[in-house]
Amino acid sequence: SQPPPPPLRGLIIGSPGSGKGTLSSRLLAAAPSIHYLSGGDLLRAHISQRTELGKQAEQVIRDGGLMPDETMMNMIRTELERQQSDEAAASSSTSAKMSTLLDGFPRTRRQAEMLDESLLRTGSDAGPPVNLVLHLDVPDDVVMSRILDRWIHEPSGRTYNDRFNPPKVKGHDDVTGEALVKRVDDSPETIKARLQSFRKSTQPMIDYYRRQSDEAQARAGAEAKPRPLYVCFTGTSSDEIWPRLREQVAMRFPGLFVEK
Ligand code: AP5
Repeated sequence: SQPPPPPLRGLIIGSPGSGKGTLSSRLLAAAPSIHYLSGGDLLRAHISQRTELGKQAEQVIRDGGLMPDETMMNMIRTELERQQSDEAAASSSTSAKMSTLLDGFPRTRRQAEMLDESLLRTGSDAGPPVNLVLHLDVPDDVVMSRILDRWIHEPSGRTYNDRFNPPKVKGHDDVTGEALVKRVDDSPETIKARLQSFRKSTQPMIDYYRRQSDEAQARAGAEAKPRPLYVCFTGTSSDEIWPRLREQVAMRFPGLFVEK
């Protein structure tokens, strides 16, 4: 009999405002067993809890810079290990195979190399450390205007957009009625700095995965071509990208989806 398919060990990557959070929420609604981890959300949680890491992150995020690679890796590792041990306890197994989607990590080539040191592997599962890279490629002018229209409910992290998904009452959260605020890094100046650090530090990481994917395809030869590791979605709206992204994940990991 066929061995069971490996769990998803996926990344969703793209420039600030490319829709990583929005499309991840849609994917999780369709495939709720996926464990989702967002580097930015974890940092914002540290900031609101006033931890040492949070104090460091506050300034870096405000300036549109990047946190040190090792700090990010340690934070992600700690959180993944916590989720893996919760999952193992829930399934009373020491080798729970957990499907994972990382949003905003890795963000530099060095982070990608650290992740490749088998972080997402669990127990007896010996597949590649990352088995799907979803790249959202959205033009800078589109992301700039989206981010400027974004409002958040800070305690819950719920996100609204004046044009795309406005709140029922302008300026107020749909669930609690509390006031919405701007993210500290959503000013025009900071967005420019974030786009710059994306081009300088994140683009080489994207090239790293693209190359890995091309090399694996070439090695496999003309017959039996594996599905590529790296998939790029070019577009200007998440509505347009979503059906394509869903199809790519479902083709490789059909068991994850609860609805047709
Ligand atoms: P992070 O929180 O990861 O921010 P980001 O990558 O800049 O991404 P965003 O959250 O701004 O955008 P998104 O792609 O999720 O888009 P969204 O769906 O919200 O990181 C913040 C900071 O933390 C970094 O700048 C860095 O300092 C630090 N950091 C994080 N990870 C790090 C790492 N690994 N290493 C070092 N430092 C790290 O969509 C954006 C807007 O568009 C929303 O308003 C949404 O409603 C709207 N929208 C979505 N789809 C559509 C549509 N179809 N049409 C119109 N509007 C739409």
